[in-house]
Amino acid sequence: MKISVIGLGKLGLCTAACIASKGHSVVGVDNSEPVVNALKKRLCPIRENGLEDLLEKSFKCMTFTMDVHEAILGTDVTLIIVPTPSGPSGAFVNDRVTAVLETAAPALAQKKDFHVVDVVSTVMPGSSQREFIPLLEEAARKKCGVDFGFIYNPEFIALGSVIRDFLNPDLVLIGASDEKSGETVRNLYESFVDSAPEFAVMTLINAEITKLALNCYVTMKITYANELARLCEAVEGADVDVVTGALGADTRVGRRCLKGGLGFAGPCFPRDNAAFQKFAADAGVELFLSPQVVRSNDSIVDYLFSVAARRVEKGATIALLGFAYKPGTHITECSQSLALMNRFLEAGYRIAAHDPMAEVEIPSRHGDAATVYGTPEEAVAAASAVLLLTPWPEYSAMDWEKLCKERPIYFFDCWRIAKNIPLGNAKARYWALG
Ligand SMILES: NC(=O)c1ccc[n+]([C@@H]2O[C@H](COP(=O)([O-])OP(=O)(O)OC[C@H]3O[C@@H](n4cnc5c(N)ncnc54)[C@H](O)[C@@H]3O)[C@@H](O)[C@H]2O)c1
Repeated sequence: MKISVIGLGKLGLCTAACIASKGHSVVGVDNSEPVVNALKKRLCPIRENGLEDLLEKSFKCMTFTMDVHEAILGTDVTLIIVPTPSGPSGAFVNDRVTAVLETAAPALAQKKDFHVVDVVSTVMPGSSQREFIPLLEEAARKKCGVDFGFIYNPEFIALGSVIRDFLNPDLVLIGASDEKSGETVRNLYESFVDSAPEFAVMTLINAEITKLALNCYVTMKITYANELARLCEAVEGADVDVVTGALGADTRVGRRCLKGGLGFAGPCFPRDNAAFQKFAADAGVELFLSPQVVRSNDSIVDYLFSVAARRVEKGATIALLGFAYKPGTHITECSQSLALMNRFLEAGYRIAAHDPMAEVEIPSRHGDAATVYGTPEEAVAAASAVLLLTPWPEYSAMDWEKLCKERPIYFFDCWRIAKNIPLGNAKARYWALG
């Protein structure tokens, strides 16, 4: 199949490379000249695990352009994966998607063959029927479902494992304007996925709701485990991992996303909750769960701050290990570590920061009160307390026994990586969340 992918960012470029790696011919489009020029020179402009190697294999099936018109004319299916930033109300803003559709419409008007337009960007429920399809029908003077097809086909990938997740989905969600378009996109996925996913083909509005509902459900589950961690924390003899281990064995609950620890963050989960609430409010429905999930998630920074501030004196240096919102990525959007760093700095503590991938931005108003170190050992050596915030494998591999025996540090372990390390005659004091 000939596929065009418009928007070659964190999700779009991985999508294009994955589809091309399975032998499809892919035209990649972006309105950023540096992105297109880099790709034409066979350079990878995005940091994502495995992407450089995959592109190396896939470049032979890929071409790159800034011309949407040319891309539509030369392909059968067009995936649109451009940003949909959150507006002040929490709703996603569609202007980049509509800008692409406006440029695509004249090409669609010219095409003799049935073309499928597939929006992958996360959009507000109702956008396809209310905004996108009328725009295309009017501008191309064609009928959706008859002359062209429209699909809403969001992805459920996590940064750091985009390629693995894209090629091994549990679920392929396809909102379709018509049966033929739904079949086309289903066949496309069947041709490249390595897993045996459930194909959920449905109306556009149901798919739009499902995307948000699923992400918000996952945040609710994460939050449930995080609250359990705090509860176990307060109860003598309790261990959150024992409790969630048993909970997860029940198939009604399931094991994934049930590790009590720090809250959710990143470019999707927080804003998906805000959009879900806005969507419900517009529909005249009051949601009770989602606002409480956000409230609970937001309270973790205060909780951790108070745990540490009760034990470590003001003015002391605290090592914060991990700023990426999860291991395997450099992304720090909505990272609780950044919020925690600001909280400590404002309260008069000094910070020794480290992350293996993320660049840690120190707020300029705090001048030299925070330092970023090249290794976690250096950060720990500069501090009298350590908070382990992102469970990077390199932090688990550190010689904590030695570090804790040598110096009287306070070790706050939010992911219990050192729970089983014998700290018998250690000088350090150990606190594990949960
Ligand atoms: N990154 C994720 O983890 C993830 C996961 C699920 C869904 N999504 C959704 O996918 C969409 C894209 O996210 P992303 O993280 O890949 O964004 P991104 O910012 O990494 O990349 C977007 C790309 O689109 C290009 N672009 C912007 N406007 C354009 C236009 N008019 N024409 C052509 N190209 C244009 C940009 O130059 C950029 O290269 C968003 O709606 C996001 O919510 C992202």
